[in-house]
Amino acid sequence: MLNQLYDHIEKSLPPKRYQHTLGVIEVAVALAKQYDINEHSAEIAALLHDVSKCMNLEELHFYVECDETLKYYGDMGELLHGFAGSVYAKKELGIHDEDILSAIKYHTIGRRGMTTLEKIIYIADAVEPNRNYPNVDLIREKAKTCINDAILLEVDRKLKHLLEIDAPIHPNTVDMRNCILGELGK
Ligand SMILES: [Fe+2]
Ligand SMILES: [Fe+2]
Repeated sequence: MLNQLYDHIEKSLPPKRYQHTLGVIEVAVALAKQYDINEHSAEIAALLHDVSKCMNLEELHFYVECDETLKYYGDMGELLHGFAGSVYAKKELGIHDEDILSAIKYHTIGRRGMTTLEKIIYIADAVEPNRNYPNVDLIREKAKTCINDAILLEVDRKLKHLLEIDAPIHPNTVDMRNCILGELGK
């Protein structure tokens, strides 16, 4: 089954996006070991996290279920591909593990109360070896010792960027940040 999923993803994504996916798998499996969670779940979630990345808006909307989180933000493509990917993984690929589906769903915007698997996919997406931006090495190293600190660094970078380009910020991202601050006792 795993080989079939790899074949499906390789066929669904352009080579560069597939390379990115392999990078996310590499980091996610290493972090799963580090944080003592199921490595197989991390591999599946990482493999499928961008399964809907190349869908057009029509296809995305076909898969996205009506969801309170999408209210007012339903046309943000970056957000939609996680939501559509999670539904696609369940309906078309037979994935029923709720933690895996949630990790796919929220990998771009996060949410309050993320599980360790969700945090791992969120940060692996941001720091896989093909990513290259100022401070990526710092966030990469931080992820190995304190995933919450790594997410804070990454989310601050993301929020600054969104403010600079006057882009909408999904409330889930702010919720995720507040929640992680709480978990860190700040
Ligand atoms: Fe993505
Ligand atoms: Fe990704």
